[in-house]
Amino acid sequence: MSLVSLGSDNHSGIHPALLDAMVAVNQGFAASYEQDPWSQELKQKILSEFDAVDSALVFNGTAANVLCTQLALQSYEALLCSDASHLAVDECGAPEKIAGVKLVSLPTDNGKIRIPSIEQHITRRGDQHCSQVKMLSITQPTEYGTLYSLEEIAQIAEICKSNDLYLHMDGARLGNAAAALQCNFKTLVKHCDLVSFGGAKNGSMLGEFVIVRNPDLKKGLKFFRKQSLQLPAKTRFLSAPMIRYLQDDLWLEIAQHENEMAQLLRQGLEKIGTVTFTRPTQANSVFCILPRPIIKELRKSFFFYVWDEQTFEVRLMTGFSVTPQHINDFVTLVQSIHTERTTP
Ligand SMILES: Cc1ncc(COP(=O)(O)O)c(C=O)c1O
Repeated sequence: MSLVSLGSDNHSGIHPALLDAMVAVNQGFAASYEQDPWSQELKQKILSEFDAVDSALVFNGTAANVLCTQLALQSYEALLCSDASHLAVDECGAPEKIAGVKLVSLPTDNGKIRIPSIEQHITRRGDQHCSQVKMLSITQPTEYGTLYSLEEIAQIAEICKSNDLYLHMDGARLGNAAAALQCNFKTLVKHCDLVSFGGAKNGSMLGEFVIVRNPDLKKGLKFFRKQSLQLPAKTRFLSAPMIRYLQDDLWLEIAQHENEMAQLLRQGLEKIGTVTFTRPTQANSVFCILPRPIIKELRKSFFFYVWDEQTFEVRLMTGFSVTPQHINDFVTLVQSIHTERTTP
């Protein structure tokens, strides 16, 4: 038996309804490379739900981010992103290697770019010695589980517009953001030119999307995708589950559950009184500092990551298969280890 994991929403399996949808299309023959009826249906659904002009299925979220960058930027242009962003710190230089552009990391508070600092980084316009800033990427929810409000996104979009920048949203967990902000995808992305939209963190097996909202940026999408080795063949098995994900608000049910489990966890740990929280809990993760010996003991029963080896800040993240019982067991264990250690 594996340990219960609060390490990542990626540690949950495939959501049963999505797996059923995949199995259901495992019969007969179907066209490949997004030409099958399910991929065509999914594309129409995505275009309508995101008010978009084109979309492309790719294998993973890194590819979606890199392809968005390729679509928008020339090699002499630069991308502004947060210093905590997946693009800047977790993609092994793929945007720099594949899109061939410069990334400029902006300072953040709890993963959110400081809005007043954005314009300080748009410098040396027209200077041939300097990469020209052309796009800003925000992650929603951020890598620290925080959210930009709709008003903040509008404010960022205004800055982009007045400085001739495209706006990209890394939505690897977009469902969690939409659920938390109580809005639909269309509202959430309405100021964006490009969106990376993920499913794996909400229960799909594989397959994320490049979503193009600005008609000027759709040129070359399918060619860039193929060149980047990101065109899957048997796309029906990736598309059918995502149709199900978007149907009957299943995405919302999953995201709400993940977010609720994070709130339950936070409330449980808050009651213990000695846990220091390091970030607000706005989506499906809780960041806090746990004493080192407690971490060692907890790790015998639960998996989770130490996010900062210096401070022992840990990330506790809830996937769709995390239950209230798991949360209760975790909190009880933290409490009992703590009591054991503090009782003389
Ligand atoms: C914010 C964010 N963006 C993108 C990704 C996509 O990553 P992958 O390429 O592993 O699907 C992740 C995965 O952890 C992420 O957290």
